[in-house]
Amino acid sequence: MNHPLMPGMRLTAPSHVKHARLIAWVAEIAALTQAADVVWCDGSQEEYERLCDQLVAAGTMRRLNPAKRPNSFLAWSDPSDVARVEDRTYICSQRQEDAGPTNNWMDPRQMRDLLQTGDQALFKGAMQGRTLYVVPFSMGPLGSHISHIGVELTDSPYVVISMRTMTRMGRAVYDLLGEDGAFVPCVHTVGAPLQPGQQDVAWPCNKTKYIVHYPETREIWSYGSGYGGNALLGKKCFALRIASTMGREQGWLAEHMLVLGVTSPAGKKVHVAAAFPSACGKTNFAMLVPPAGFEGWKVTTIGDDIAWIKPGADGRLHAINPEAGYFGVAPGTNDKTNPNCMASLQRDVVFTNVALTDDGDVWWEGMTDELPAHLTDWQGRDWTPEIARAHGENGKLRPAAHPNASFTVASTYNPVLDPEWDSTTGVAIDAFIFGGRRSTTVPLVTEARDWIEGVYMAATMGSETTAAAAGAQGVVRRDPFAMLPFCGYNMAEHFGHWLHLGDKLNGHGAPLPKIFCVNWFRKGADGKFVWPGYGENMRVLAWMLGRIDGTAGGVEHAIGTSPRYEDLHWDGLAFTREQFDSVIGIEPAAWQQELVLHQELFTQLAHGLPAELPATKARIEQRLAA
Ligand code: OXD
Ligand code: MN
Repeated sequence: MNHPLMPGMRLTAPSHVKHARLIAWVAEIAALTQAADVVWCDGSQEEYERLCDQLVAAGTMRRLNPAKRPNSFLAWSDPSDVARVEDRTYICSQRQEDAGPTNNWMDPRQMRDLLQTGDQALFKGAMQGRTLYVVPFSMGPLGSHISHIGVELTDSPYVVISMRTMTRMGRAVYDLLGEDGAFVPCVHTVGAPLQPGQQDVAWPCNKTKYIVHYPETREIWSYGSGYGGNALLGKKCFALRIASTMGREQGWLAEHMLVLGVTSPAGKKVHVAAAFPSACGKTNFAMLVPPAGFEGWKVTTIGDDIAWIKPGADGRLHAINPEAGYFGVAPGTNDKTNPNCMASLQRDVVFTNVALTDDGDVWWEGMTDELPAHLTDWQGRDWTPEIARAHGENGKLRPAAHPNASFTVASTYNPVLDPEWDSTTGVAIDAFIFGGRRSTTVPLVTEARDWIEGVYMAATMGSETTAAAAGAQGVVRRDPFAMLPFCGYNMAEHFGHWLHLGDKLNGHGAPLPKIFCVNWFRKGADGKFVWPGYGENMRVLAWMLGRIDGTAGGVEHAIGTSPRYEDLHWDGLAFTREQFDSVIGIEPAAWQQELVLHQELFTQLAHGLPAELPATKARIEQRLAA
């Protein structure tokens, strides 16, 4: 590919960058995109502050009141660029069957033609008038054998500062790369070239968006969006989609899981990795505050969204959090749902699409019980309860913050950060939890009898779509392993990968992690959640600990083992036996229906589906019939 460089462009890499292939690739992308300049980021505080000032001057961000939120900023995105775009996300493997039926696929030659090589290729000239930033980052602690390196080339300074918070970003990564270290190349443009003299907009982006992964060559190309997982390519694109394909090849796991530590009053600590679909409260669970009745217990956060998990020589699975920050949804977060998260957001935060208060602070729906009298909403409009009522839909107020509004903050501000969160060897996992949002059918907690039954639970998990009419039971979207939008290869083979890993670990002497399935979201006849959730989920965690060390009782049923009322610790919570029965019960008729839906999933995923899964289903059917 030979594109001329822009005249006058500074291409020289700093002397500490010694990696010839990296330098040549940067030159190639600078020429393709016709970037006006190239900046090699060093990750320093000075660089961060300079870029923040630049983003404020450009109108992309505003500085919040330093007396209220020191060193914090608010960005409002273009209203067309507010979330991940799953329908624009592609896995471009050579063969379509390798992407599987749950991913969008395009032939890699066709995609490269569209993005890079064709006459109208979208990346050609896409960075005209903009600076190309070279962002070196490590997913995972620097130098850990579980970590991997990426380099993102982006024309968005907002992405640069966000990557600095979300990853280990900066000069030390060039040092680690040395002269020929491996890295995942990630190219990102907002797709909004500037002609000479053209005035920029506050949030440049393009109506056309492509989030593209080439699993065989381990490349990521993202076009048209500046927002979140579309643009911070270390997160969903690398740490899940590309990393899952690496893990499958190399015998490890990249999972959409939080990782937490639980320490009992006696000082016994276990580590748990938990997968929940988006919008099921992963960050809340990762920062859980033990409730009354659990004095002396501690929950500590290793990660809130992604886990990389590798088998160790000891036959156990060791997990790291590849990220270094939290990119979480703000609405609904408050001092009751997640006090530790609120405490993490006091300073050094970049908020996106939340509302601005009159005294220069932030607000979002659910932050306070009382509505503010006046705000500026995420689109810069006046907001009062009256205006919001006048413009609301379905009897609801028009939100002041976008429902997907976010915060980006370094993990180190989390008051319950686990001391081992940055450990290069990771933490040994004692249990996996899989959960979804189901108003019926799925019990509060079930332990799988064995690894295969656990993989079955994970493969068949699902959540009700929140778009369902109020009060009605939603449509269940199957979200195997909470990886539906994030698995970089054929989902059926992901099940096989887990089964294979279980086989490999078996016989190493160490017990396999236990696998549990949870559902915090069962509703009563009144349409309200029965289980109080949040900190009270500690009661379920404590039961799991008891199962791990063999001290807690339970009762076996068709789909696994669940606690009886007397197996949970109830001090500090008034929760009756009847209430418990309504969240733990297995209704045979509902389960017959559920298994029909499992079969639909297995039919969809028939290509490559491991035989163990239909066989497990048949055993559940027999038990239900018995
Ligand atoms: C996320 C998601 O943004 O899972 O973390 O959607
Ligand atoms: Mn997530």
